[in-house]
Amino acid sequence: MMRMILFGPPGAGKGTYASRLSTVLGIPHISTGDIVREEIKAHTQLGEKIRAYSEKGELVPDDIILELLKRRLNKPDCEEGFILDGFPRTISQAEALDQIFNLNLVINLNVSDKIVMQRLSNRLICDTCGAIYNKLTLKPREESVCDKCGGRLSQRKDDAPDVIQERLDIYRRRTKPLIIHYTNKGVLRNVFCEDLMIPPESVVDEIRSIVDHVRNATCL
Ligand code: AP5
Repeated sequence: MMRMILFGPPGAGKGTYASRLSTVLGIPHISTGDIVREEIKAHTQLGEKIRAYSEKGELVPDDIILELLKRRLNKPDCEEGFILDGFPRTISQAEALDQIFNLNLVINLNVSDKIVMQRLSNRLICDTCGAIYNKLTLKPREESVCDKCGGRLSQRKDDAPDVIQERLDIYRRRTKPLIIHYTNKGVLRNVFCEDLMIPPESVVDEIRSIVDHVRNATCL
């Protein structure tokens, strides 16, 4: 059993590392950002309601995001654990999660604003399977084409420079205080990613050894 969070500012690499860790650890990667974007793409009533928040880089209201997350966590593939990416983002979301589960581990990805800006302004996402690329650091084999499924790659609407700045401000005001919440619970471990070109596999290996250590220490 491993219930863990990948925590960090926008562009820290949460999605990049969580998708790889999911394969290595055999537990699902659950990104509330992906859930929000899927809901918008499907043009559901809820999707239309949350579109503006996501595109402006603002947080979707807690009650909506919690409902979406609970729906996902109730699926059978979460029974052996999960990797959360993008949740929680506010103290009230963290408190709601505490009511449902005991978490085993929170990985806090430490990255500077300068690297975040470089990463996000060069990020490409596959419109079909959601795989993440980067024009500087993780280029697809063929320009604008997904290596995995052949889908078209495009930039996210919220990766425009003014929206990135807004997301960073919101992270500092509303999400960063959670570091204290999880430090006090004794589950937070820091990982530092200050090198723009560090291969994702090196960071994944570091997180993997923390997971193994926590599992051995707590007999999970
Ligand atoms: P979300 O999708 O969660 O956005 P975010 O937290 O801002 O995170 P990002 O997806 O931008 O960054 P990331 O850390 O996953 O970085 P990535 O791996 O792509 O949320 C979007 C929106 O949904 C929110 O603004 C909000 O409206 C809503 N929402 C979601 N959750 C919510 C919640 N709980 N409450 C309320 N609203 C919510 O990496 C970035 C780039 O760097 C990529 O190009 C990648 O290829 C590259 N890269 C990263 N690491 C490396 C590396 N080691 N080497 C080479 N390239 C790398």
